[in-house]
Amino acid sequence: MSDQPRESQLATDGSSSHPGAVTSGVWTRSGWRDLPVVQQPDWPDDGAFERVLKQISSSPPLVFAGECRDLTAELALVAKGEAFLLQAGDCAESFETFNAESVRERLRVILQMAVVLTYSSGLPTVKIGRIAGQFAKPRSAPTELVDGIELASFRGHMVNDVGTSLAARAPDPHRLLRAYHQSSATLNLLRSFTKGGFADLNRVHSWTQEFVSQSAEGARYERIADEIDRALRFMKACGVDPRSQPSLHEADFYTSHEALILGYEEALTREDALTGDWYDSSAHMVWIGERTRQLDGAHVAFFAGISNPVGVKVGPSATIDEVLGLCEALNPGRIPGRLTLITRLGSKAVVSALPPLLRAVRDAGHPVVWACDPMHGNTFSAANGRKTRRFDDILAEIAGFFAAHRSEGTVPGGVHVELTSDDVTECLGGSRAVLESGLGDRYETICDPRLNGRQSLDLAFRVAELLRHEG
Ligand code: PEP
Ligand code: CO
Repeated sequence: MSDQPRESQLATDGSSSHPGAVTSGVWTRSGWRDLPVVQQPDWPDDGAFERVLKQISSSPPLVFAGECRDLTAELALVAKGEAFLLQAGDCAESFETFNAESVRERLRVILQMAVVLTYSSGLPTVKIGRIAGQFAKPRSAPTELVDGIELASFRGHMVNDVGTSLAARAPDPHRLLRAYHQSSATLNLLRSFTKGGFADLNRVHSWTQEFVSQSAEGARYERIADEIDRALRFMKACGVDPRSQPSLHEADFYTSHEALILGYEEALTREDALTGDWYDSSAHMVWIGERTRQLDGAHVAFFAGISNPVGVKVGPSATIDEVLGLCEALNPGRIPGRLTLITRLGSKAVVSALPPLLRAVRDAGHPVVWACDPMHGNTFSAANGRKTRRFDDILAEIAGFFAAHRSEGTVPGGVHVELTSDDVTECLGGSRAVLESGLGDRYETICDPRLNGRQSLDLAFRVAELLRHEG
């Protein structure tokens, strides 16, 4: 892999706290290798891993630098309160359930949620999927005990299989290639669906009307759905033809994932010919998870040198110093839209933990996007051992997020959720409540519990109500 160094965004005087990635003030895409790195699989054969990476590094990029810059510009609007962010998709994408229909249906739910949010907020919704690359999972424990046998934890289909045998759990680097190709095929579908008429506003709204007229949870949103309907008819009466208006007929849809396996991300990081900047072409946006955000660690150092918009998860243990350190390391130039802080504090902790962080970042003058992940701080094990989340806790964290921003005068930029269009029973509650006794009916996630299609739309309408209240 040729690895032309360039001047770092992190520091140019060699005094950086990330000496490995930034040697003599120069960032390289492989510099993270000299730093402590956590949550990487134990690949059985180092040679095979490096050979796969070589193959990926000579494969075409998945996204383009210009698209990443467009997303940064859109996120800059979010940071100012002039757009709202919806980041959503699977906890972990699966190799097994991959097909055109499943991609289309996940896209459909996100587009529907976005129309509801846009109408209610009066602001454009920036849509980013956890899709086309969300294949690697950090784990709290490296192994688990299944029927008395100690197995390596499942780390996402990019690494191993979820099956409960030693063979299934063995990390296989060839899976990185499969993840690359599935991401490429998924992006191809997303690009066709969003530009080929599937995202037409009238069409998306007619699906939402179905939800409103045919489901218990939908009925309470009849008024707002009717209002959207009237707005669409008004536009039509004024002679606005969606087919001739790209903004009504097409959608901009971006991809994102947790960039966990740094070898894979390095292999897809390319120098942009136009600007000379480095972009991780595996997704438009990449984020650092709660477990890998160490200031002196490899993930932060790698992210410091790529020019994509980036995110960091911020959990309840994050201190003010850590959060300010992340802002400095990842966005020293204070570029609006470059950095999104995705808080996942839990419905109770959000009330006390979020305001001090908002104040500190605001006072330090960092133009971040604040997004609320109401999923990962609200996970617990039900009596039958299934991991789950309560719809009401999810809503409560979002409400707490809005309240904290209101009290600090900062901007609640958006939400980050795990969902699927399928009628699964993974999260408890919602208007047509999933009960604890029903969790086993359709519990299909290969990782964390997701909102089903109805719960997702229900959530969008509830967030819309909060946004209206704010407005
Ligand atoms: C996730 O987003 O699936 C995840 C593991 O989140 P976190 O890093 O916030 O725990
Ligand atoms: Co998750």
